[in-house]
Amino acid sequence: MTKFDSAALLSPRANSADEGAIIRMSQRTRELRAAGQDIVALTVGEPDFDTPLNIREAAKEAMDQGFTHYSPVSGMPELREAIAAKLRSENGLAYQAANVVVANGVKQAINNAILSLIGPGDEVVILAPYWVSYEGSIKLAQGTPVVLHSNVAENYKVPTARIAAALTPATKLLIINSPCNPTGAVWNRAELEEIAVLVRAHPRLMVLADEIYEYILFDGEMISFGSLPHMLERTITLNGFSKGFAMTGWRLGYAAAPLPIAQAMGRMQSIVSAGANQFVQRAAVAALHGPRDEVETMRVQYQARRDFVLAQLRAIVGVVIADIPGTFYAFPDVSAFLGKKSGNHVIENTEQLCDFLLEQHGVSIVPGSAFGAEGSVRLSFAASSADLKKALARIATGLESLV
Ligand SMILES: Cc1ncc(COP(=O)(O)O)c(C=O)c1O
Repeated sequence: MTKFDSAALLSPRANSADEGAIIRMSQRTRELRAAGQDIVALTVGEPDFDTPLNIREAAKEAMDQGFTHYSPVSGMPELREAIAAKLRSENGLAYQAANVVVANGVKQAINNAILSLIGPGDEVVILAPYWVSYEGSIKLAQGTPVVLHSNVAENYKVPTARIAAALTPATKLLIINSPCNPTGAVWNRAELEEIAVLVRAHPRLMVLADEIYEYILFDGEMISFGSLPHMLERTITLNGFSKGFAMTGWRLGYAAAPLPIAQAMGRMQSIVSAGANQFVQRAAVAALHGPRDEVETMRVQYQARRDFVLAQLRAIVGVVIADIPGTFYAFPDVSAFLGKKSGNHVIENTEQLCDFLLEQHGVSIVPGSAFGAEGSVRLSFAASSADLKKALARIATGLESLV
């Protein structure tokens, strides 16, 4: 009898889904730590702060009050209303509660949006360096990712002319993530207005505006793309609680969109999961209505770390890095070190460079190739000052040892 091979049954979709470099680096970090090695990990994009107390209290209270049942798929009415009110007052986005779809994290909101709009033959423009998951979602929907590149000299913002040149009649979505993971770039009003001109010229094009790092902003102004004239009907706005409110594990995010798209996103979510956890939604109402002082305290601490990390990286000869107006990531260009040697071993790409820094110098960071940007690496400064100090010293020693 031939041996049963379950791997042979996997769909092309499953075979093409890549778990990603961040997960690989985290896994290797765990293995090395389990073997007793001292590793500083700046791999994961996760606040090192606890969720503010008022939000935790609200969740506990809601649980005791019996908010432990199924929720309406698109979210509890009071949360959808609170989100719409936030988007109107803070972001200048004239959404109503019916436009809002609450999801189990922004990740799910992204998948809801892409699955609602994209199918075979549809193109989605993504601006590299980009957050890893967009490409996976587009492929899941059998759409075609069209990746446009930018570099450190351009402050990691693809010039509008290049975006214009990439748009075709098949382009349905353009993804803008500002503030941007992994680069920390923030798009200003003038730049976004140039993109709005393109959108007006392409009647089938929508913008997916991922604004999850809105509250982690140090310089400049947060502009929501949908707040630009006539852009609300051409935008799906994404935001959530993971980063600004330090609620990664709670799994709560949302999308807001024109009604037919919002309704389709709800249908997608009803197939894949269901409404988000009820007591988490109650806590999210408390987050939106409650004091923001802890959110601000976290932002100020990220800013101090940003200053430290930038200064340390700029002191390493060969490292080139743009300013970081938002997020908790640094994305230095380290291409000057590629082709150099550690002993007899030539470091050919950023994946090998990250392996070298992890295995030889005890610091875990992510290769730029994971973000469609070979030549750079990403490090998260959502970590303690002590860890950052240690990590930056190790990175400097490691890079300076290459010949
Ligand atoms: C740009 C961006 N969008 C979305 C997400 C996903 O957030 P959530 O935890 O709400 O799924 C992340 C998380 O790293 C992110 O960096």
